[in-house]
Amino acid sequence: MSYDIDITKTPPAHEPERQYYYMAKAKDFVEKKSKEIGRPMTYFVKTFGCQMNARDSEKLVGILEQIGYVEGTDEHSDFIVYNTCTVRENANNKVYGRLGYLQNYKKKNPLMKIALCGCMMQEPEVVENIKKHYKFVDIVFGTHNIFKFAEILCNNIESGSQVIDIWKDTNQIVEDLPVKRKFSFKSGVNIMFGCNNFCSYCIVPYVRGRERSREPKDIIREIEKLVADGVCEIMLLGQNVNSYGKTLDNPITFAELLREVNKIEGLKRIRFMTSHPKDLSDDLIMAIKECDKVCKHMHLPLQSGSSRVLKEMNRHYDKEKYLDEVKRLREQIPDIAITTDIIVGFPGETEEDFLETMDVVKQVRYDSAFTFIYSKRTGTRAATMENQVPDDVVKDRFDRLLKEVQTISSEKAKCYEGKVVPVLAEEMDDQKDGYVTGRMDNNSIVHFPGTEDMIGNIYNVKLDECRGFYYMGEIKEDA
Ligand code: 5AD
Ligand code: SF4
Repeated sequence: MSYDIDITKTPPAHEPERQYYYMAKAKDFVEKKSKEIGRPMTYFVKTFGCQMNARDSEKLVGILEQIGYVEGTDEHSDFIVYNTCTVRENANNKVYGRLGYLQNYKKKNPLMKIALCGCMMQEPEVVENIKKHYKFVDIVFGTHNIFKFAEILCNNIESGSQVIDIWKDTNQIVEDLPVKRKFSFKSGVNIMFGCNNFCSYCIVPYVRGRERSREPKDIIREIEKLVADGVCEIMLLGQNVNSYGKTLDNPITFAELLREVNKIEGLKRIRFMTSHPKDLSDDLIMAIKECDKVCKHMHLPLQSGSSRVLKEMNRHYDKEKYLDEVKRLREQIPDIAITTDIIVGFPGETEEDFLETMDVVKQVRYDSAFTFIYSKRTGTRAATMENQVPDDVVKDRFDRLLKEVQTISSEKAKCYEGKVVPVLAEEMDDQKDGYVTGRMDNNSIVHFPGTEDMIGNIYNVKLDECRGFYYMGEIKEDA
C-alpha cells in the first residue's frame, strides 16, 4: 500500500492513510537517530498468550519495520514491545517481573523505548500501577487501538513523556496496514474480534470488547494476498468462530465463510480457532467434512464435564449436549482430531463435579488437552463467588487430570502408527539432513525424507514410528 504523504502537512483524518502519515513521521525520527548512533535501531517484540496476540504482534512488527527499525535479538534492543495477556493471573506477574530487568537495560541505553500493549493494559488497575510505579515505560496502549501504534509513538517522540492511550471498546476495524509474518508459509487471519459470551471465569470480554466480524470480502482479499505471497496454510481466528457473521449488515454463517475460503486457489490448508460448544451446527460439521482444505481437527473447549459447574460458568451447554456434539462430529468425520481446554478448581467444584470432567475426558479421548488451574480474575462474576476450592485440592485434581489426559494422548498418538495421513511439508528438518518437517491435520509433527522444493506441499505420509509426540515417516504418494 502506498500513499502520497507529506509529513510537513497536517495528518489525514481517514484510516489507514492517517497511520501511513505517522509511520512516515516516525521513520524520519528513526533515520535521524540511526545516523547519530551509526547503526540501525533495533526492536524486540515479546508476545504473551494466544494466537490472537501472536497475530497482533505481526501487525506491530509490520509497523516497526515500516518505520525503519530492524529486528533485534533480545531485550537489549532499542525498542521493546510486550504484547501482554491477562487470561490468568500469572501472565500479569510475568510481565511485572520482566519490567524490573528492562528498567536496568534502559539505564544503560537512554535511546531505548518500552511499549506495553495487549489485554493486560485494558485493566484500569494495571494502568494505574504502571503510571505510579513504572514511569520508565514510554507507551501504553490496549487491544482496540493497535492500528494506531505509529501515531501513539509519534505522540511519545514529540512529548518526550509517557503516553497512555487505552480505548474501552470500538467498532472500528482498520484494514490494509503493514504486517510482517513470523512464518513464510502459514498465517493467522482474524475473522472477528471480541467476545459476547461472558463465561463467568473469563476476563476476555472485558479486555477485548464486544464481538464484531470482518466483512467476508476483506477476509477473502487478505487470504488471496497471503497465498500470492507464498502462504499455503491459514488459521481463521476468533474467540468464538461459530458466531461469525451474525452482526454484519449482510449476515453470513461461519460454515458459509469456510466454503468460500475453501475455493481460494493455491491455498492448501484451513484451520480455525475457537469453536464454542454452545452452538456447533450440523451445517458447520458438514462444511468441515466437505471442504477438502479444512483440517479435520476441532478444538472444542470443554472447561468442565459437570453440568452444574457449566451452568455456573455460563457456558450454555451441559455434559450431554457436549458429548452429543462429539458423537455428531465423529459420525460424520470418524477420524477427526479433537482437542480441548479444561479448567480445574472453578469455585464450588466438588469431587463429584471433577469426576464428571474425568468421565468426559475418558469418553471423548482427546488427541490433546490444555489443562488450566482456575485463576481468579477481578471483575468477572466467578471472582465474587465465595466457595473457592483450596489450593491443595485443586493441585491434586489437576495432577490426576493431567496424568489421564497425557496417558490418553500418548495412546492416541501411538494409534496413528502405521497409518497414512496427509502431512504439509513446512520446513527443512534442522536435526536430520535430507529430511523435512511437516504437520498433520491435528498439528502433530512428522519428520520424513525430503527436499527443499517440497515445502508448502501436502504428501500422504506413512507414520512408521511414533516417538512420543512426533513421528518418523515416509512418503507414500502425493496427496
Ligand atoms: N482461569 C483459568 N483458565 C482460564 N481460561 C480462561 N479464563 C481462565 C481463568 N480465569 C482458559 C479457558 C480458555 C483458555 C483460553 O483459557 O480454558 O478456553
Ligand atoms: Fe472467554 Fe468464554 Fe469468550 Fe472464550 S467464549 S473468550 S472463555 S468469555
